[in-house]
Amino acid sequence: MHPQGMSSRVSPLTVDLLAQDSKPLPPGLKMTGNHQPEARTIPFSRYTDPAFAKLEMERLWLRTWQVTCRTEDIPNIGDRVPYDVGTGLSLVIVRSGANEFKAFYNACRHRGTRLVNAPGGGDTIRCPFHGWQWKPDGALKEVPCQWDFNGISGGSHDLKEVQVAVWEGFIFVNPDPDAAPLKDALGVLPQAFEGRGHAERYTFAHVSKKIRANWKTVLEAFLEAYHVIETHNDAMPFTGDANTSYDIWDTGAGHISRLITPSAVPSPHLGDDASTQIAADGVAAFFAMAMPGVPMPALDASKGNARAQLAEWRRGLMKMGLGLDMSNHCDSELIDSTQFHMFPNFGVWYGDGLPLLYQFLPHGDNPNESVFNVRLTMPLPANGVRPPAAKINHLDFDEYFSDKAPEFGPLSHIFDQDLSNLPYIQQGMHSAAPGAAHQTLGTYMEQRIQYFQNVLADKLGVN
Ligand code: FES
Ligand SMILES: [Fe+2]
Repeated sequence: MHPQGMSSRVSPLTVDLLAQDSKPLPPGLKMTGNHQPEARTIPFSRYTDPAFAKLEMERLWLRTWQVTCRTEDIPNIGDRVPYDVGTGLSLVIVRSGANEFKAFYNACRHRGTRLVNAPGGGDTIRCPFHGWQWKPDGALKEVPCQWDFNGISGGSHDLKEVQVAVWEGFIFVNPDPDAAPLKDALGVLPQAFEGRGHAERYTFAHVSKKIRANWKTVLEAFLEAYHVIETHNDAMPFTGDANTSYDIWDTGAGHISRLITPSAVPSPHLGDDASTQIAADGVAAFFAMAMPGVPMPALDASKGNARAQLAEWRRGLMKMGLGLDMSNHCDSELIDSTQFHMFPNFGVWYGDGLPLLYQFLPHGDNPNESVFNVRLTMPLPANGVRPPAAKINHLDFDEYFSDKAPEFGPLSHIFDQDLSNLPYIQQGMHSAAPGAAHQTLGTYMEQRIQYFQNVLADKLGVN
């Protein structure tokens, strides 16, 4: 059997760390995958060629269930946001009723003007050109000088809808009218998030970052922990990188993968005698930075399971800071970095170790540019009153999290480390030698990339 990671005496494989958890594991951590992707060649041209980007627009984005935003972003009837995939797909996502959501093509039925450019609200969607108006449910409401338009009658010029479905507060769309239901595309996600769902969370911080790299280049940089050794070298004393576990679930229509990167253990690269105390203290400092003023824990790795001690400290913080009882949340949920990926571009993290959401999108028609949307989420406070979702903080190509997104706390530094590589990856793909212009992937650690690319290739019919 192929190696499933690398361990050390003080940093076991994730599966062995999970077995030492002080609490029962929830489904999302207990499940194991059912699929190993076949090795197929992935040419760099898939990241750089405008013709390939065009094919993606036609065969992927216009035919796939994809996450747009969250219901909390449009809390009142009439609230709406634009959703753009490059220049080929633009929709308006609207709350059309108390618990009803619709998505419309973002184009005026008169002469095509883009209707919604920014988040907005109210009971009228109004075109800025001649003032045609629609209700939040898409019904045409008013046309100035309607006497001049003969062909308008009985809903003929309502806004054109695409399929919408909601899962755990996430609003998905599929422009393909014949698409199978979202449920099929979610695969094992509902099973994994059972009882730990995201509906009862809110967006605490939200950045939309332009990046000079293809959307797949960016996505794939977040599908493996292999890069920790070089890109996040300073995290190695307290991050399990080579002992990270990777799983894939292929359910036919559902394409889901997961990584679990353990924290509060040293990297196995640091050897058998690396300090478990430094590992636990390093993670405590990281979490404390995110909550300034909280008391630091007195961890004693010599007294056994430092991960359990750290998790218990965090349960106390959740109780103290938010009034939340997390006594039934296992250690791993409170401290580890567990990320699920749903094809094509949705990253949803599990638990409160690293409670993030990712969305990767093409930017314009240029395959060398993309938009990375990232949110930090928090559980609703104990009183159940939902705080307003954070407004989007837009970061341009040359702006960095550390300077412009302090709301991400210690994560800003980590994102900047990741972002610093991305334009160079994109550039290197353009300048690779003919005959060597393709990926060379690790069988275990980079299996999620291989799987994602295989599903994409099948969807596009390229091989
Ligand atoms: S283009 Fe929209 S009202 Fe004329
Ligand atoms: Fe990273």
